[in-house]
Amino acid sequence: MMVASFLVGICLALSQHLLYANLHHKSMDDEGEKVRMVLYGRAFAYFSKIAFGGCCILVFRQRIWRTFRSSALSVLSIDQLFLATEDPSLFVNWETISNAPLAVAMALVIWLIPLATIIFSPGALSFGWYQETGSANISVPNLNFSMESYADWRTPIQMADGTKKRQLMFYNTTDMKQEEEGWFDYFDQPSSDLTRVSLMTAYSLVDHPLNRPDARIKSCGGNYNCTYTASFVGPGYKCEMVANGPEDDAKLAELGAPFNTSELIPRGQHVYLSDVDKGEYNKPQYDQLGEGGKPNGTIPDGLGVFKAEPVLWIGYSINSTVKLAPDDPLAKNWTARYDPHIFRCIHYETKYTIKYNYTDFAFTMETEYEYLSPIVDTNFTLSDNGTVDYNNPSPAANYVSPRTDVPRYKKVAAYHAMGQSLREFLRGKIELTPELPKGPSFARVDSEIAQTTLVSNMTSTPTEDLPDKLQRFYGDMLLSLFSAPKMLVVSETMAEVQRSRFQSTFIYSPAKLWGCYAPVIFFTLIILLMGAWTIHQDGTTFSVGFSRIMVTTRNQTLDDISRGACLGNDPFPMELMHTKLQFGVLNDYGELEYIGQDGLQGVGHCAFGVPSEVSFIQRGVPYAGLRRRPERRITGVQKEKTD
Ligand SMILES: *[C@@H]1O[C@H](CO)[C@@H](O)[C@H](O)[C@H]1NC(C)=O
Ligand SMILES: *[C@@H]1O[C@H](CO)[C@@H](O)[C@H](O)[C@H]1NC(C)=O
Ligand SMILES: *[C@@H]1O[C@H](CO)[C@@H](O)[C@H](O)[C@H]1NC(C)=O
Ligand SMILES: *[C@@H]1O[C@H](CO)[C@@H](O)[C@H](O)[C@H]1NC(C)=O
Ligand SMILES: *[C@@H]1O[C@H](CO)[C@@H](O)[C@H](O)[C@H]1NC(C)=O
Ligand SMILES: *[C@@H]1O[C@H](CO)[C@@H](O)[C@H](O)[C@H]1NC(C)=O
Ligand SMILES: *[C@@H]1O[C@H](CO)[C@@H](O)[C@H](O)[C@H]1NC(C)=O
Ligand SMILES: *[C@@H]1O[C@H](CO)[C@@H](O)[C@H](O)[C@H]1NC(C)=O
Ligand SMILES: *[C@@H]1O[C@H](CO)[C@@H](O)[C@H](O)[C@H]1NC(C)=O
Ligand SMILES: *[C@@H]1O[C@H](CO)[C@@H](O)[C@H](O)[C@H]1NC(C)=O
Ligand SMILES: *[C@@H]1O[C@H](CO)[C@@H](O)[C@H](O)[C@H]1NC(C)=O
Repeated sequence: MMVASFLVGICLALSQHLLYANLHHKSMDDEGEKVRMVLYGRAFAYFSKIAFGGCCILVFRQRIWRTFRSSALSVLSIDQLFLATEDPSLFVNWETISNAPLAVAMALVIWLIPLATIIFSPGALSFGWYQETGSANISVPNLNFSMESYADWRTPIQMADGTKKRQLMFYNTTDMKQEEEGWFDYFDQPSSDLTRVSLMTAYSLVDHPLNRPDARIKSCGGNYNCTYTASFVGPGYKCEMVANGPEDDAKLAELGAPFNTSELIPRGQHVYLSDVDKGEYNKPQYDQLGEGGKPNGTIPDGLGVFKAEPVLWIGYSINSTVKLAPDDPLAKNWTARYDPHIFRCIHYETKYTIKYNYTDFAFTMETEYEYLSPIVDTNFTLSDNGTVDYNNPSPAANYVSPRTDVPRYKKVAAYHAMGQSLREFLRGKIELTPELPKGPSFARVDSEIAQTTLVSNMTSTPTEDLPDKLQRFYGDMLLSLFSAPKMLVVSETMAEVQRSRFQSTFIYSPAKLWGCYAPVIFFTLIILLMGAWTIHQDGTTFSVGFSRIMVTTRNQTLDDISRGACLGNDPFPMELMHTKLQFGVLNDYGELEYIGQDGLQGVGHCAFGVPSEVSFIQRGVPYAGLRRRPERRITGVQKEKTD
């Protein structure tokens, strides 16, 4: 029993450990479930207390009989030893401590076991915030402009909830019913959804794309913080600085720029000047268009053809804040030097590789651009006298026609629509009145650009890094399409998402648990070994049931001294309490008998008695009541009879 209860105790402690280890870093939303788990752990703690305590109690009982035999104790102390598991008063009784130090120590262990197991061990499991990190391969929002290639405005794709997917542009067609020979659709204008998104992006005055409110949850696949990289191919403006500083006009003339630095401050009056429409797709394409853009009569050859993408020519001047020398001719009008810059941007098919970072409400990203090829790969021809022919770009073989390669035409149309939406904000100019002679200097704005983040909010003039900003602004406009999931180009792609989240979880500290159980197991093991040794020495096991009390108190002397206390009533007579008793062999029961010639034949009677009437019990002696081998019993009976 002792060994079994010890082993059971260890198993229960291990079970508690396994349960807690299993709960470690696990989050549970259900409060009831949480409480249940905690209670299971406490149940293990409670049962292991019973097991370890049971083991110690068994040994303790074994041990106290040894004490009763070896020394005479007052009835009070004997009571206390019997009741040690319920009544702690034996710890303040010098008689028990001095006569039965081991038993008292065991009793102390029995009293302390619940403290370690029931009270402290469940403390190893607590709740806390835990950052769970990991990666998952999940589907994330992405853009796919190829979706436009295969879309037909007549049969829009429906989303699961019935919303119709929206395209980036509106089409005109030569035949609504798709019946006539050689019918085709051609680009009309950016769709109202795209216009809405681009306006919102520009007017939001934030330096990041718009996104849906639940973007983090959607993209991270749950309430996580996450980062991932995804790429798509879309339109992008590749900008290149052509003129830096005043009089830097040579290259401009060579490239056929529509204006030069003489238009910009300080020589001109513009602080911002753009020309973004040269070579633009004509609207209307033909002067006799009927309903839906169907031409009147025969269809002209060039209808709907993209011959070129307009090149952005943008000039701006920056206040260098360097004071002008008084003898400088420009000092008549300006106090500080102005540096004009002119750059051009060509519309390229671009591969965007974007590292998204969703943290709480913030959404940041790092974009890498890889410019693949011009969207419409044609150049305007520059004649010898310096004028540019914008009507017939070359080579004509690179024109994108709606009649031949329809998927490519539709994709180019989508790119063109995006570019056209951007150009709405770039068109126009900003003039700055000179500071001298009659200040003050102020900006005269004639461009939508003043409504965007492309100009400084302090001076209403463009900032130095305008080409970079412009590229980013365009990228933001593309990515803002994510805020309108009904757009056809908003699709999904699989990506490896690195994600983390803070969660309220169980936190298990094995050190705490074993810190509680280690001393319990250690002391219980020592007590168990002591118990085994005691049993070996005693040659028998002892218990403290009523039957054992009954059979060990059958002594005439006890009857005599306890007269008047036969009810077991409380309080017990004091003088009786202080009577010293010892457990041993009653002398008058024939000490001689078992000390007989062979020393083994006697039938001694063991009971509590006053020290003077009992002598020590010896191991292996068959006292009355102990089971003996039959022939002995017969011999014994014969002897008694003889006597
Ligand atoms: C984009 O959409 C096209 C047409 O639906 C499809 O063939 C292509 O695989 C998609 N690309 C990506 C990267 O999902
Ligand atoms: C700059 O443009 C103006 C008119 O726009 C022209 O008169 C001038 O010659 C041009 N300068 C150069 C260096 O091309
Ligand atoms: C189309 O042509 C018919 C005759 O050919 C003419 O009556 C009509 O006004 C034209 N419509 C337009 C929009 O030019
Ligand atoms: C498309 O057709 C409409 C209606 O005839 C016309 O107003 C519009 O200008 C056309 N678009 C283009 C790009 O020709
Ligand atoms: C240019 O910068 C200088 C120095 O900051 C300032 O004094 C001057 O007013 C600025 N010029 C204009 C036109 O704002
Ligand atoms: C520059 O100053 C001169 C004389 O001070 C004035 O005549 C001229 O109009 C000014 N230039 C501009 C662009 O205002
Ligand atoms: C994501 O952004 C947050 C805050 O903006 C930053 O602390 C974190 O380091 C970023 N993560 C990565 C992987 O760049
Ligand atoms: C257009 O001009 C650029 C140089 O400005 C040249 O590299 C490119 O090949 C030209 N494209 C075509 C189709 O000729
Ligand atoms: C320049 O040359 C083109 C033909 O090469 C001609 O059509 C145009 O009128 C000329 N422009 C000027 C200003 O001479
Ligand atoms: C002005 O622009 C700067 C830089 O773009 C930005 O940090 C700041 O928040 C803006 N100020 C206001 C009031 O929008
Ligand atoms: C996301 O990160 C922020 C900053 O590190 C943190 O405060 C927040 O709790 C995190 N959110 C989640 C869901 O883990």
